[in-house]
Amino acid sequence: MKHLRLSILGFGVVGQGLAELLVGKRTLLQQHFDLDVTLVSVANARHGFIYCEKGLDIPTLLALAAQRQPLTNHPGVKHWANALEGLRATGGHILAEATGTNLRDAEPGISHIRAALTQGMHVVTANKGPLALAAQELLALALQHHVQLRMEATVMAGTPVLSTLTEGMAGARLRSVRGILNGTTNYILSAMAAGRDYADVLAEAQAQGYAEADPTADVEGYDALAKTLILAAVGFGHTLKPEQVFRKGITSVSREQMRRAVDEGKRIKLVASLQAVSDFGESPLEARVEPLALPLSDPLARVDGVLNAITFQMDTLSEVTIIGPGAGRLQTGQGLLADLIAVAKTA
Ligand SMILES: NC(=O)c1ccc[n+]([C@@H]2O[C@H](COP(=O)([O-])OP(=O)(O)OC[C@H]3O[C@@H](n4cnc5c(N)ncnc54)[C@H](OP(=O)(O)O)[C@@H]3O)[C@@H](O)[C@H]2O)c1
Repeated sequence: MKHLRLSILGFGVVGQGLAELLVGKRTLLQQHFDLDVTLVSVANARHGFIYCEKGLDIPTLLALAAQRQPLTNHPGVKHWANALEGLRATGGHILAEATGTNLRDAEPGISHIRAALTQGMHVVTANKGPLALAAQELLALALQHHVQLRMEATVMAGTPVLSTLTEGMAGARLRSVRGILNGTTNYILSAMAAGRDYADVLAEAQAQGYAEADPTADVEGYDALAKTLILAAVGFGHTLKPEQVFRKGITSVSREQMRRAVDEGKRIKLVASLQAVSDFGESPLEARVEPLALPLSDPLARVDGVLNAITFQMDTLSEVTIIGPGAGRLQTGQGLLADLIAVAKTA
């Protein structure tokens, strides 16, 4: 049996989702993967970092989080006010990084990831900021320290996009990527295609928890842009800066434009795209996030609601489309779990 000591930094929706899966799938992990995971440390912003040498009790942690009580109420823990200090002092085999995405400087996630890799920990992450802004640097750091950095959950949550690209379709040459990579905007555009108003649907999406109180990151296309940068790095090995991606959100899509598209047998979708502009390995990429009217013959046009989808164009496979969830507690936890299992298999 392989024993992994795990640290989870960021214990919100996703961190808790992973913890819940570790409890629910404990027997499966042992029986099918010969893997036993001990959660030794957890951190959030409000209560800092807690550590227990013999392992934290996950149901106790989940109950504390649900009641918004301090995580330090868990019995028998050592406490650090700061996650980075706690991680450096205690270590472990693997870090699950699930703090909030920040596209300005990728903090605090990038410091957590750098610290973990440098001290020889594998990293799995759902946090888009560090990979969007510094994928090449962090992957090189992982290589230098002989550990893995995996990021399945950053693009379409647990739907296997990145592993399909790098492992399932290994050896195929990627020519282009087009995707619906943000569930909130797809939910809004799908409802608008059925005749609803942007403002009404946004308010409904906020009430149902699909959209944030401040929806800017979604509706202005920044979330899709972050995923586009990650796909450029993973799929094409090319680092793009955010300003190299043409970005237009959905706030300017009018009811009239939507009606005209539907009349023409089309659907307007927020499409993130990457296109190699020449056929050479190091060719620059054209990267765009924008609302486009797609004919119904396009597989992306029929993907509605909060679902996400991505179409890869490859030399050997022509087109491959993957459709699935792009967010959610267990859906994103699943992406981290799959990466954790992948690390355990090879580590
Ligand atoms: N939610 C999804 O469906 C989804 C899907 C794909 C990817 N992601 C990505 O996954 C990450 C987590 O998302 P989420 O929905 O779980 O967000 P969330 O609920 O806001 O949780 C973020 C967690 O990070 C903690 N945190 C913030 N700063 C910290 C610091 N300096 N040290 C330690 N902990 C810190 C927060 O602490 P407090 O609890 O004290 O505020 C919170 O527990 C984000 O990067 C997000 O973009 C989310």
